[in-house]
Amino acid sequence: MKTVSCLSLSGGQGKTSVSLLLGRLLADRGQKVLMVDADPQANLTFYLGHDVKANEPTLLEVLKRQVETADGIYPLTAANLFLIPADEGLHKAQEYLAAG
Ligand SMILES: Nc1ncnc2c1ncn2[C@@H]1O[C@H](COP(=O)(O)OP(=O)(O)O)[C@@H](O)[C@H]1O
Ligand SMILES: [Mg+2]
Repeated sequence: MKTVSCLSLSGGQGKTSVSLLLGRLLADRGQKVLMVDADPQANLTFYLGHDVKANEPTLLEVLKRQVETADGIYPLTAANLFLIPADEGLHKAQEYLAAG
């Protein structure tokens, strides 16, 4: 398994666009791709057309180990594409992780 991260301190640098296009490209080429949306703005989740329903686990619940990782992974309609989604609650991950 290979991991690709798109990181930058400021917004508007192209992280979401690169993640979305690279993920779709690799999935189209037959690679199984797990997208992990680690931004509380949840733009990647939105662009991928995933609607986080109330009480459905997101990356926050996976990070806090409230659910098994597998329970936070959702298959998307496109072949080979899976998502651990974010929503605005992911802001809380910062305090959780800082508290150790
Ligand atoms: N290669 C590019 N060329 C021109 N505009 C781009 C490019 N990549 C992203 N953008 C635009 O820049 C803006 C910010 O991109 P986005 O991927 O949302 O950044 P981030 O996730 O880092 O905040 C968006 O309006 C996007 O359409
Ligand atoms: Mg973004």
